[in-house]
Amino acid sequence: MASSITIENVNAAYGAVRVIEDVSINVKAGETVALLGTNGNGKSTLMKCVMGIVRPTAGRIVAEIDGEKHNLIGLSTEQIVDLGIALVPEGRRLFPKLTVEENLLLGAFRAKARAQIKTNLDFAFEAFPRLAERRRAGACTRADAGAAYPSGG
Ligand SMILES: Nc1ncnc2c1ncn2[C@@H]1O[C@H](COP(=O)(O)OP(=O)(O)O)[C@@H](O)[C@H]1O
Ligand SMILES: [Mg+2]
Repeated sequence: MASSITIENVNAAYGAVRVIEDVSINVKAGETVALLGTNGNGKSTLMKCVMGIVRPTAGRIVAEIDGEKHNLIGLSTEQIVDLGIALVPEGRRLFPKLTVEENLLLGAFRAKARAQIKTNLDFAFEAFPRLAERRRAGACTRADAGAAYPSGG
């Protein structure tokens, strides 16, 4: 699947606090782009603009997926996720009352991903055998109690 994303002249603010100004980034198909900066520079805010969590005050964000252009500004986060665009936030954001397997299944929220649940789960358990051992354990049960403790990454 050929996909690219173009961020053009984006501004974003939290109320009167202007956080990003005139930011443009183009990520072409097959490219990996790292956005570097010290704390508070607006990296997360830009990612939230892409995901529809923060609404930019100016600029354009367009994703091209399989030759079709999607203007992301104005779409809901759910619609953006449904296009296959995802944000993995920093930190241990697990659902502590769900099992390891249930937490992994939440990654298959999209209808397209749901169709491939088995293949993807098998891949995760093969790559990280410890998860397979602890698939039915609570995601945040203490490790010394014999249950799982995935990092959330
Ligand atoms: N929800 C918010 N409300 C007000 N200010 C915010 C909010 N989130 C982030 N900020 C401010 O916006 C600036 C950029 O933050 P952020 O995008 O999280 O930076 P980074 O991810 O590069 O560390 C910081 O000054 C931060 O304090
Ligand atoms: Mg951040």
